[in-house]
Amino acid sequence: MRISRRRFVQLAGLSAAAPALMRAAESAQNPELDPLRPEFHLLPPHNWMNDPNGPIFWKGSYHIFYQLNPHAAVWGDMHWGHAVSADMIRWRHQPIALAPTPGGPDSEGCFSGSAVVADGVPTFIYTGVQNAPPADVTIRDGSSTLREVQMLATAADDGLVRWKKREQPVIAAPPAGVKVTGFRDPCPWREDDGWYLGVGSGERGKGGCVLLYRSQDLRSWEYLHKLAEGKPNGKQAANPCDSGEMWECPDFFPLNNRYCLFYSTEGKVLWTTGRYDARTHRYTPDRDGVLDHGAYYAPKSFLAPDGRRILWGWIQETRTQAEFAAAGWSGVMSLPRVLGVDAAGKLTIMPAAEIESLRGQRIASAVSTAHEPGTWRWPLAALRCEISLRADVPATVRLRTRGVAVWELKLDPASGDVRCGDRSFTAETPARSLPARIFLDGSVIETFIGTTDALTSRVYSVVPGETVLEVEMGADSVEPAVWSLDVISPDRLTR
Ligand code: FRU
Repeated sequence: MRISRRRFVQLAGLSAAAPALMRAAESAQNPELDPLRPEFHLLPPHNWMNDPNGPIFWKGSYHIFYQLNPHAAVWGDMHWGHAVSADMIRWRHQPIALAPTPGGPDSEGCFSGSAVVADGVPTFIYTGVQNAPPADVTIRDGSSTLREVQMLATAADDGLVRWKKREQPVIAAPPAGVKVTGFRDPCPWREDDGWYLGVGSGERGKGGCVLLYRSQDLRSWEYLHKLAEGKPNGKQAANPCDSGEMWECPDFFPLNNRYCLFYSTEGKVLWTTGRYDARTHRYTPDRDGVLDHGAYYAPKSFLAPDGRRILWGWIQETRTQAEFAAAGWSGVMSLPRVLGVDAAGKLTIMPAAEIESLRGQRIASAVSTAHEPGTWRWPLAALRCEISLRADVPATVRLRTRGVAVWELKLDPASGDVRCGDRSFTAETPARSLPARIFLDGSVIETFIGTTDALTSRVYSVVPGETVLEVEMGADSVEPAVWSLDVISPDRLTR
């Protein structure tokens, strides 16, 4: 239904003092014209998405599934959306892969999970939620009435379009004696002696944890022990995810002679690397850090056929719910990131080389005047570009829209200090130099600093044709390279 701007304002009871909301509502009428909608990142044509689920390479194609609310641009009624790609960049939307079954253990939602291939059959393990009597409720956030169980579904065709659910849960309740704060987001893997599964969980006053299970057939599971757990931190919050007492979306895998465990809590994603004893099934982390310093959550990795460990993550909105609901879309899938672990055990994160296939024309520097040595400016006709630079002296990268600075990244190669809006961190600067790659796509900016740090930003005040990219970094610095990047769909909807 099309509504006029005046009618929208009447309906929403808004005054003219809500321009952001009105702009968002206008774009909902024509999402394909919304300049804030990314054009080379994956997102559903309409409505809400969050976590990536079950990424898998199968029969020559990359598949990604994701948490989708098909009815609105706000969280709720979780389904699994599906898209397929030959290169991890250009996607085609597929029919919804998983939907809640009325009356079933996932009647209130198909929450996050993973995919494995078992006996030649792609198989999902995911969390189903259903309303339950108080004693069975597992989401203990003070208001939820939901019980979480672990469910299984198998692919019924090689396009991974149709899935057959096992009616009953494969894990129907948390382990006896553990009063969980939550019980979800299973991540399975194969070892010599069977299947193993981590489930995100936690306990009040103790901290978040990953519960470890074993099975021979993915259907009947035995609880072993906690694979990893946090420490009491004194924090209290109604929602245990806010206090670190619930770890969501664990991801556990071997990489470069180490093991990595990721989990999401307190609004961020933590990485750990360490040793895993395949005899005792105990994991001992010895390094940790923040996977992305910005709007990034609940990532999930998979193995590409060439052996690269690729990570997908959910880029969140940072504008108000009223604004994104009015815009008609919310949430974006990150670009594919290649993971590694360096000799010191530190996680490395690099944008996948496939992204370079989007590069179009290299944008020539427009202005570098004698008055401002070391300042480059590029007017951006489209909000789609990659900026690559090496800061050997302090550098500032800025987007200026209609004269106003709307996004700014400051790099100090001597100290490694990186600052972007209210976010700051210290990056590694082996040669007192900070290489940075920045991908701008509508309202999304993914920044990679060196080999170990990433920061995802959202910026809603950019306007194509009225935005200038500025880089300041000392008169004799090498000019940054700026490429315009291609769209992956003619209409922003990636049909
Ligand atoms: C993380 C998360 C998961 C859950 C899913 C529900 O963003 O809360 O723990 O499975 O989203 O949509």
